Amino acid sequence: VTRVVSGIQPTGNLHLGNLLGAILRWVKMQDEAPCLFFLADLHSLSDHIPAETRLAQVRSMAAALVASGIDPQKAILFAQSDVPAHAELCWLLNGTARMGWLHRMTQWKDKSGKNKEGASVALFDYPVLQAADILLYQASHVPVGEDQKQHIELTRDIAIKFNQDTGTDLFTVPQPFIGGGTAARVMSLRDGSAKMSKSDPSDMSRINLVDSDEEIAAKIRKARTDPEPLPGDPELLKERPEARNLVGIMAAVTNESEAAVLARFEGQGFGAFKPALADALVAMIAPIRARFNELERDVAALDRILDDGAARANALGQPTLLAAKRALGLSRH
Ligand code: TYM
Repeated sequence: VTRVVSGIQPTGNLHLGNLLGAILRWVKMQDEAPCLFFLADLHSLSDHIPAETRLAQVRSMAAALVASGIDPQKAILFAQSDVPAHAELCWLLNGTARMGWLHRMTQWKDKSGKNKEGASVALFDYPVLQAADILLYQASHVPVGEDQKQHIELTRDIAIKFNQDTGTDLFTVPQPFIGGGTAARVMSLRDGSAKMSKSDPSDMSRINLVDSDEEIAAKIRKARTDPEPLPGDPELLKERPEARNLVGIMAAVTNESEAAVLARFEGQGFGAFKPALADALVAMIAPIRARFNELERDVAALDRILDDGAARANALGQPTLLAAKRALGLSRH
């Protein structure tokens, strides 16, 4: 691992899927390698929201990341729009990326739905900006949840084609770095076949960083399950997606294997399991939420962190941007 880069859209609240799939893994990596983490506010332009909302969401997500353990002294934490090279490199890579590649992206297919003609160009071009985010810093590893894997594979294709087309080895070809077990893909509490997501209309489908202890307990109590008792063998959860998700969440939160979790609950029903899961979630989330509430109030401190991060990211990205422009005949100097 020579350099780690990852981002999060600042829209809405941080939820358990983001925490287990990405953020808490970023926190571990910041001690092991040079890391850049950013708020993807340019990506959020694919939906129209009022300017004040976007600005508030960027600061709020910065507070959430610091509260979760991102240390701005160790990792570079910044807002994407503060580093113009992201947008500039995106345009350069637009010459490399193929329409067919973007048409195959499942996120494009899902989010544009039936109204392809009415979708924003930004939604279609979204993965090319994501490639720019990563390639600008010559990232070797990109820690993300399973849902982003296809975008990282596209980033690899863009890097390889750019290098080939220009006869250089300018871009490092990055690896997706995805966690094991349920953490890679935390599912909705209401539907074991849908991922937990901030766009799900039902708030009961997800645990948010800002949920109170009571809300967390109520959401777990009402989470969809089946009437069978828990087995001792994780293999036997294969056909029980809701049960598997809850057991997987418990394992991720308490840092145990699923087998170890099941050993504690074998033969018991969800009446016994759910309160224990709610307690484990509250133990993890309550301290993060308390720090978040503190940090969110200090706008000046958040802006200092983001300004400092932007200055460092700008300096790191410049050489690659310049090299890419040279490789394309865009720099006379
Ligand atoms: P975003 O904002 O949707 O999600 C942020 C991170 O959380 C992960 N994640 C999940 N992991 C497990 N289970 C879930 N249910 C779940 N939901 C979300 C995501 O995989 C992601 O790692 N396009 C990205 C943001 C981005 C980016 C980048 C990421 C922009 N540029 C460059 C990496 C590198 C996105 O929308 O993530």
